[in-house]
Amino acid sequence: MTLQVRSQFPVLSQTGSEKSLAYLDSTATTQKPLCVIDCMDQFYREHYSSVKRGVYRLSERTSQSYEATRTKLKSFFNAASESEIVFTRGTTESINLVAWSWGRAHLKAGDEILISALEHHANIVPWQLIAEHTGACIKVLPCDDNANLCLDLLPSLLSDRTKLVAVTHISNAIGTINPIAEIIQIVRTHSQALVLVDGAQSAAHTPVDVQALDCDFFVCSAHKMYGPTGVGMLYAKYSILESMPPWQGGGDMIDRVTFERTTYAPPPARFEAGTPPIAEVIGFGAAIDWLNQTGLAQIHAHENEMLEYALNSLGQIPGLRVIGNPTQRASLISFVLADPLDPQTVIHAYDIALILDEEGIAVRSGHHCAQPVMDRFGVAATVRASFGAYTEAWEIDRLATALRRVLKIFG
Ligand SMILES: Cc1ncc(COP(=O)(O)O)c(C=O)c1O
Repeated sequence: MTLQVRSQFPVLSQTGSEKSLAYLDSTATTQKPLCVIDCMDQFYREHYSSVKRGVYRLSERTSQSYEATRTKLKSFFNAASESEIVFTRGTTESINLVAWSWGRAHLKAGDEILISALEHHANIVPWQLIAEHTGACIKVLPCDDNANLCLDLLPSLLSDRTKLVAVTHISNAIGTINPIAEIIQIVRTHSQALVLVDGAQSAAHTPVDVQALDCDFFVCSAHKMYGPTGVGMLYAKYSILESMPPWQGGGDMIDRVTFERTTYAPPPARFEAGTPPIAEVIGFGAAIDWLNQTGLAQIHAHENEMLEYALNSLGQIPGLRVIGNPTQRASLISFVLADPLDPQTVIHAYDIALILDEEGIAVRSGHHCAQPVMDRFGVAATVRASFGAYTEAWEIDRLATALRRVLKIFG
């Protein structure tokens, strides 16, 4: 096994009467290493204060730690400057920020927003809301039966009317790794559209260089990157951020307030109204340190090893159908299991997940906030097993054994 980091994750190292947990739900959220937990604990115990407002030393130190995370994110994603990094509550809020700030200012009736068939609801619904508000419309780049996006159709969907292309880097429902650099190149050749990359599933799995990619927006969530919940990031090119009006008003996002008129702070402060999640931002910084120390390349290699092992192991289970066969797959497998007594139907994903839970296995079942993906593949729900830096082969073995038990129960 390439990586040996499991002991750094307290939730996964608990001993007691229960079997140790086989945690196969890292696509939903990753577990947290001790260094992230300790960093936040220490902040609350020893350094807690607000940011930006105090001149006393405690607050100054906190402000420095808070801003240090911005610098870490700038380097991690190779942004041109810290001012291009906006803290948000997560991917969902980052996309809503772009929709309600950039979208409301720049979209009008007849404009088009292009998304893909593989999007999470977070990269569909905000665009529907802003389209309703502005009169813009939404187009969808389809995918083929393997869950690869139909890139040959992309040029024909782009025109002068296309103002934004919002596409996921990695599909959370199937695992497709989209050829994002190629997509951006095609968009640049055939339109003036801006490109938003939903990096919720890629940020902790594969190196991302926003300047090399030349994306306009990149969004992610700390909780899927071994960091805390409640914090995430919007990266945007500074010239674009500068052209965007505030989307939320309040403290810290202003330059000068009078009852007659308010002027706003420059980015990123313009988009960070109110007291931020301070401990979470600092914990996000600790997670970035952990990712750098562990090495994204090592994490990627380890996850690929686990993926290959799981594809091989699950492939031997009678009636198990993996959904999608993308050219490049991230470390997750979505599948359905045929009912042994009626092979034309499948065992409900929730029933499978409940039985797996009895065996100490945590998987996700359902539509994975990607109902259009489920519709595309003609299933109501799937079971999804997903892997992270701490996944070990015994967890996949336990899953395979438990799935055979499911077949016995239903047989
Ligand atoms: C591809 C993708 N986009 C967006 C999101 C939303 O992320 P969050 O709930 O952290 O805002 C998720 C979460 O699963 C996701 O997988």
